[in-house]
Amino acid sequence: MRLREATGDDLELLHDMLLEAFNWDGTTRFTRSEVIGDPHTARYLGGWRRPGDFGLVAVDGGTPLGAIWARALPAAAPGYGYVADDVPEIGMAVVRAHHGRGVGSALLAGCLEQARALGWRAVSLSVEDGNAAARALYLRHGFTVVGRNGGSDTMLRDL
Ligand SMILES: CC(C)(COP(=O)(O)OP(=O)(O)OC[C@H]1O[C@@H](n2cnc3c(N)ncnc32)[C@H](O)[C@@H]1OP(=O)(O)O)[C@@H](O)C(=O)NCCC(=O)NCCS
Repeated sequence: MRLREATGDDLELLHDMLLEAFNWDGTTRFTRSEVIGDPHTARYLGGWRRPGDFGLVAVDGGTPLGAIWARALPAAAPGYGYVADDVPEIGMAVVRAHHGRGVGSALLAGCLEQARALGWRAVSLSVEDGNAAARALYLRHGFTVVGRNGGSDTMLRDL
């Protein structure tokens, strides 16, 4: 497994992974067209890859195993895990068949390095109640809970 930078050509994969992130419990709560078409969820990847966007794809040979992406959203059109205009919000998912093999951990560590190298002061994310695997991963990588939005915690990682 290796990590490579997420490019403008990865949008379809990132949409697959965004859908996995919204349907993290394995049920189809959202369809692909809902996630892409909804004005709120479209904020995360619409127009990818804009200046300031960054992310990584984990691959095994040519096969994608998962991805992570980050974008700074403004207060006027925030993400669920909004903290501040100068704090990008992260989203991530690993292809289900490859869960539990360290891919998510590698993606998250790599993305934190990317964010630090780009000069961001912190990154945030939103994790829904019950998503124990994601929450454990984030706690292990130094995220702390700083807020609440609906049925989700907002978590922050200072860099
Ligand atoms: C969260 C996610 C990205 C983790 O990716 P992954 O490649 O499986 O993660 P890793 O293998 O690096 O680590 C998984 C860790 O979670 C732990 N874990 C797995 N299921 C768990 C559970 N139900 N409760 C607590 N911990 C759990 C594993 O033991 C492992 O910890 P360890 O490294 O200390 O053994 C992946 O589960 C996923 O894609 N989930 C669906 C999408 C999603 O939830 N995205 C995030 C939305 S906020």
